[in-house]
Amino acid sequence: MADTRPIGVFDSGIGGLTVLREIWKVLPGESTIYFGDNSRAPYGNKARSTIIRYSLQNMEFLKSKDVKMIVIACNTASAYAYEALKDKAEVPVVEVVTPGAEVAIKATRNGKIGIIGTKATISTGVYKKAVERCAERQGKSNIEIYQATCPLFVSLAEEGWWDNDVTRLTAKEYLTPLKEAGIDTLVMACTHYPLLAKVIGETMGEGITLVNTGEAAASVVRSVLEENDMTSSGTAAPGKEFYTSDDAAMFESIATPFLGEGLPSGTKQFSTDVYKVEN
Ligand code: DGL
Repeated sequence: MADTRPIGVFDSGIGGLTVLREIWKVLPGESTIYFGDNSRAPYGNKARSTIIRYSLQNMEFLKSKDVKMIVIACNTASAYAYEALKDKAEVPVVEVVTPGAEVAIKATRNGKIGIIGTKATISTGVYKKAVERCAERQGKSNIEIYQATCPLFVSLAEEGWWDNDVTRLTAKEYLTPLKEAGIDTLVMACTHYPLLAKVIGETMGEGITLVNTGEAAASVVRSVLEENDMTSSGTAAPGKEFYTSDDAAMFESIATPFLGEGLPSGTKQFSTDVYKVEN
């Protein structure tokens, strides 16, 4: 029987829309509810306990909307809070770290993989461990991992400076050590970075494979729904609901370039602070 309940997606703010649009691409018949925690963003420089608490609260909100799955679109929240969420969610939870790591291991030819993300994501070491685990699963040895934090990329993406000189200079500053290390695969382990893919790719030069963790996660979302017989029949027009913990008009004005003209629309404001959670 078709499961027409929506897929719930949350992020610290608007970056997760890059994951949402990948989900729409592979699952055009599914309804979605997106929550952006803009009033408490960014997560990328917060403490572990804070990131876990926020993520649990966001999960409670999505559960109250009767979602059939929860997608942690935020790389920082995936790195810190997946374990805490998965046992309490009562529905399947998909995060973005392992899917990105699997794709990176499949893609690399010389075994040298770069990972870029927020300070919080990189400092957990969760991505590094995930890449190592995937290498073992796929029987690949001699993997070398190089990591870098690129905090300014988030602001540049939100400013709409996806392809300009400031972004190019910033990319050169952040990425030169990875380029010199000779990596052939780079995991964009932050929601915003796919928006800067052109500049990141040009900075790294020919032969680099960029891994979009949102795209990788979207294909996992599809497999999990199929394996659990939870897909919608796709007959009715799928719902697209948006919530933000900050100003709705502001959310829509920053988010429109992420999704294209006319979207998001009808965004409502809601603060998940109301949920009392234990972590
Ligand atoms: N969504 C975050 C991530 O993917 C980036 C923005 C933030 O720091 O909150 O890590």
